[in-house]
Amino acid sequence: MNDLDLLVQSAETDFSAAATPADLENAKARFLGKTGRVTELLKGMAALSVEEKKTRGAEINGVKQRIEAALTARRQALADAELQAQLKAEALDVTLPGRARGQGGLHPVSRSLERIEQIFGSMGFDVADGPEIEEDWYNFTALNTPEDHPARSMHDTFYVEGGKLLRTHTSPMQVRYAMQHVKKYAGAKSMPEIRVIAPGRTYRVDSDATHSPMFHQCEGLWIGENVSFKDLRSVFTDFLRQFFEADDLVIRFRPSFFPFTEPSAEVDIAFQSGPLKGRWLEVAGSGQVHPNVVRNFGLDPERYIGFAFGMGPDRLTMLRYGVNDLRQFFDGDLRFLSQFR
Ligand code: FA5
Ligand code: MG
Repeated sequence: MNDLDLLVQSAETDFSAAATPADLENAKARFLGKTGRVTELLKGMAALSVEEKKTRGAEINGVKQRIEAALTARRQALADAELQAQLKAEALDVTLPGRARGQGGLHPVSRSLERIEQIFGSMGFDVADGPEIEEDWYNFTALNTPEDHPARSMHDTFYVEGGKLLRTHTSPMQVRYAMQHVKKYAGAKSMPEIRVIAPGRTYRVDSDATHSPMFHQCEGLWIGENVSFKDLRSVFTDFLRQFFEADDLVIRFRPSFFPFTEPSAEVDIAFQSGPLKGRWLEVAGSGQVHPNVVRNFGLDPERYIGFAFGMGPDRLTMLRYGVNDLRQFFDGDLRFLSQFR
């Protein structure tokens, strides 16, 4: 093997040893670069005669072409290898079974709230929303709740900074909505009846199977010139029968006390099945709105009269699905919640 063949062989060895395109470019420079070995050979021809230059030149050109061919082949091989590696890394096994997206669903209490809104909506009730961080005046004072009423004590109410509190019931919405309504029709010849429900979150220092510190209530208010306790009974009974899809639902109105209603009643439902069968569960407070409260709405209690109720959608959901601990609704355990999808 002559020196030229050896040179070609040495280039081929270096090229195939180059593992990356950068290595290969370095190897190329060693042979074909400005100070590379082929270039050196060409420079070495200066001393040769014209005849010798011809043959030697042709030989060196042949070497150069072989080295260039080896370089091109190695470049292609490296590019192919890189493509293969990339394809392998991004390989998709199209024969694998699909991964189904986890199916979500509405929370059971949200379902109840939707039902409540839909049923009262069909009876012509507006739906209102209000703040959960409430002022004492709306939560208690405007609702005829005396300064020394036990509901105001630290045991029941979560107080927050700035003298505000987490509303203990949705009843402040009676006052907020009614005042707004009265203002809206202040200059009008007549005022339409107030007919509204106000669902939302409420808070109390309370925790057992039928009480959670955060729970839901839905307030209802109907004020007009001729709305009576009898209307309360029929509206609320109608609602419960539609909600539970049961015409023979066992409901009782039990005399009670609230500072903001007179007379007052609590509404109980009997469990029809399950471990709590035969037990009564209170689902709402209600009554004829107290004249002092009607006055706080900005209305004349001699002319305007009506009723209000405040129900517990969490309790209604318990009854509807036969759940025996209401706190499960708020534990966030998917094994429990996914049963309601
Ligand atoms: C009230 O909160 C009155 N504001 C209801 C009212 C409104 C009366 C309008 C008259 C006129 P009470 O504290 O009873 O009342 O609560 C009403 C309902 O909320 C209860 O019947 C119950 O269903 C639900 N409830 C009360 N506390 C909790 C709790 N900690 N967890 C879950 N539900 C509760
Ligand atoms: Mg009660």
